[in-house]
Amino acid sequence: MRNAIGTKRAVGLLLALAMLALLLPAAGAEETAVATEHKWWQDTIVYQVYPQSYQDTDGNGYGDLKGLNEHLDYLASLGVGAIWLTPVMVSPMVDNGYDVADYTDIDPRYGTMEDMEQLIADAADRDIRIVMDLVLNHTSDQHAWFLESASGRDNDKSDWYIWRDPKPDGSAPNNWRAIFGGSAWVWCEARGQYYLHTFAPQQPDLNWENPEVRQAVYDVANFWLDKGAGGFRIDAITYIKKPADFSDGEPDGADGMVGIHAMTANTEGILDFLREFKENTVAGRDVFTVGEANGVQASELPDWVGENGVFDMLFEFSHVDIGNGTAHTWSDPAPWTLTDLKAAFAASQQATKDNGWYPVFLENHDQPRSINHFLPDAEDPVMAAKLLGTLLITMRGTPFIFEGQELGYTNVAWDDISLYNDLNTYAQYLFAMEEGFTEEEAMEGVHRFSRDNARTPMQWDDGENASFTDGTPWLPVNDNYTEVNVATEAADPDSVLSWYRTLSGLRASSQVLLYGDYTELFPESEEIFAYRRQTEDGEMVILLNFTNGAVSYDAAAVEGLEPLLSNYGDAEAGALRPLEAVIWH
Ligand code: NOJ
Repeated sequence: MRNAIGTKRAVGLLLALAMLALLLPAAGAEETAVATEHKWWQDTIVYQVYPQSYQDTDGNGYGDLKGLNEHLDYLASLGVGAIWLTPVMVSPMVDNGYDVADYTDIDPRYGTMEDMEQLIADAADRDIRIVMDLVLNHTSDQHAWFLESASGRDNDKSDWYIWRDPKPDGSAPNNWRAIFGGSAWVWCEARGQYYLHTFAPQQPDLNWENPEVRQAVYDVANFWLDKGAGGFRIDAITYIKKPADFSDGEPDGADGMVGIHAMTANTEGILDFLREFKENTVAGRDVFTVGEANGVQASELPDWVGENGVFDMLFEFSHVDIGNGTAHTWSDPAPWTLTDLKAAFAASQQATKDNGWYPVFLENHDQPRSINHFLPDAEDPVMAAKLLGTLLITMRGTPFIFEGQELGYTNVAWDDISLYNDLNTYAQYLFAMEEGFTEEEAMEGVHRFSRDNARTPMQWDDGENASFTDGTPWLPVNDNYTEVNVATEAADPDSVLSWYRTLSGLRASSQVLLYGDYTELFPESEEIFAYRRQTEDGEMVILLNFTNGAVSYDAAAVEGLEPLLSNYGDAEAGALRPLEAVIWH
């Protein structure tokens, strides 16, 4: 399909570029005082790198910091002003770096502290800042803090983690189930107590009630700020405050347990901790923070990111969770419609309208690829990728591109569970089997939601292993790499990559896209996602056809406007072709 309509698309792109050329001088001339009120991180695009999968330079099959450094010009060409680097600190890699054993050193898998300093400096030369991923809810069970805490009840760190006595019968203190499956408690012989882990057993939760723990995590943040980090993405932050009540919850599964998320996420008092974090670390520095906040509702955003909020931006999950419903297993997804997706975006846009700022994202290292997630029936993945890219880059907020998204990556579907790497994929598979789903249903869930969908190596060209590594890649490269790769797409003006570059240039030079208000159009439509972006001086209307068929809309929505950019190259008022994405101005 890609080749069949490639020529038409190339012509279309010429038209689009011509339209863009018309716009750019006008937009550039629009420089107003508004721009100066904005922070650098509101005007830029953030790109998330999963370093393990980006570029290997030493042939061990794992990406490294030197490899990422080699591609800074590529990222600059996408208009990226900040790279969110998932954790590269010393780690046993049970959860690929989200189990930190030393916060102030680089894991040898990724290189050295010199490589990190070089990366920060070389990125700065290109006006790109490196944003570190801080994992502060838990450490690795190999961290020196935990080893000391677990050595007995009488040591300096004895109260640094969440320790509880067993129930009278010796069993775990309560029936909470960890996010990665099984009881959230692990028995420690040396203390005669259990410790709590929200995620894997090797990820014990820190005790934020202890002021020494809080000071220690502030020291970690300040260490990286002093190294020149441009800010932080802060992991799993909604779990740091535990409730006073540790009693059993109502079971939600055949195992008699209740998911810990329901018991501990976003507990009252959490914002006090986070205010203190802000005051002791980022306050007064020209950096940004984005919290990962599963469990915070869009309506609560103003408390978190408003003028007096604790972060600059917050990832809340209502739009990516739409397929999950209330189900506790990947094998029982909830049906959803386009209006559900639009309502999720509308709520977060509304909540950050006058106060705070929104990080727009459709993918990250924990999510399926967005084409499979949001357009699972799309007949043309290239058009689908362009449509979703348009949504990502034209919505109000700072766009976060996840590596490969700019190339139109899609999910993988390996036959056998043993081919997967991600621990949560195994946990979900086992849980589905325990809940009585068949092997086939369990694997369907894995194919749909496995985090490995996002983690396959970067596809740089059509050479062996997509030139990600000279060795054996830690996770197989997606079979589509001969077509979907940077070199091929960079040479094709009609590729997904070229589309992203065009959109990125458009956003950077458009006051309307950077600062304009957001108003949803046709909110009831199950076919079209549409919105208006508007400043006092200008207006754009973005129309996205989420179906494989032709659809129509009330042309009054674009009256007086001209088509600016379309993934078909031209546009007709009132009509949209399959998976058409069009911007009117
Ligand atoms: C969220 C991270 O994005 C995910 O990859 C990780 O497994 C958990 N937090 C635990 O740190």
